[in-house]
Amino acid sequence: MSIIAVEDLKICVGGRVIIQDATFRIDEPSFVVIIGPNGAGKTTLLKTMIGLIKPVRGCIKILDRVVRAGERYPRSIRKLIGYMPQRDVINYAVPLTAREIVISGIVENLTLPRTVLPRDVDSLVNNIAGRLGIDNILHKFFDELSGGQQQKVLLARALVKDPRILILDEPLSNVDEMSRVEILEFLRDLVRRDGRTVLLVTHDVEVAMSWSDYVLLVNNGRAVLYSSKMIEDVNKFLRQYPEKDRKIVPSRSPYCA
Ligand SMILES: Nc1ncnc2c1ncn2[C@@H]1O[C@H](COP(=O)(O)OP(=O)(O)OP(=O)(O)O)[C@@H](O)[C@H]1O
Ligand SMILES: [Mg+2]
Repeated sequence: MSIIAVEDLKICVGGRVIIQDATFRIDEPSFVVIIGPNGAGKTTLLKTMIGLIKPVRGCIKILDRVVRAGERYPRSIRKLIGYMPQRDVINYAVPLTAREIVISGIVENLTLPRTVLPRDVDSLVNNIAGRLGIDNILHKFFDELSGGQQQKVLLARALVKDPRILILDEPLSNVDEMSRVEILEFLRDLVRRDGRTVLLVTHDVEVAMSWSDYVLLVNNGRAVLYSSKMIEDVNKFLRQYPEKDRKIVPSRSPYCA
């Protein structure tokens, strides 16, 4: 049974083809780092994987539940995924506290109008907040927090229900160096110890190099999965270019079928 399989996915946004062909498969609990230049379609691909954007072709399989282009995205798949959106799309003006935002990561998986919070909601929230070092800011409005604190609150929201799959869109941006390492260690433990699968977008090639089992390169309308054995090749390729000109263009097609 695969954990995630994406096949022949084509995605259009605003009348433009953003992803022409994404095909990759992850068969065991893995730490997958997604890299690619600005505007390449990383966020678009992740939003499609959680059903926020409908693909025009192809299919997505999450733990053997399949959704094809044109079909309604099943709630049963969404329940398996914890999603952290890229921070620039959050509406800061909504007057919610950090605690309320973390709790919304549990509530979104319950069926309204029968929504009853689990009795242990406080311990779930306090536990994840403690692990991310945000227990002392849970009472504050989200809008009052620093960029890095907001990132951690959104990460806690994605993690609070302990989902099988975590899809995290730039969770490390704005986060200080010490917290970055702590978060990466925490996520790696989730993969190694608890058998979760993490997909994490970053622009930090070092993170891709040092922490991932796989690197998913998104560029030129394609998404290509490299196993960790090939990460060195990816890195060598990237380092040929000055940082500002780095373009990620996979030259081979070794997606893991
Ligand atoms: N709602 C939208 N309407 C029109 N075009 C969009 C929309 N959302 C994204 N796009 C376009 O789709 C392309 C891919 O955007 P996306 O946000 O997926 O890129 P990204 O790889 O996540 O970039 P970044 O590294 O900057 O986050 C871009 O050209 C963007 O302008
Ligand atoms: Mg993005």
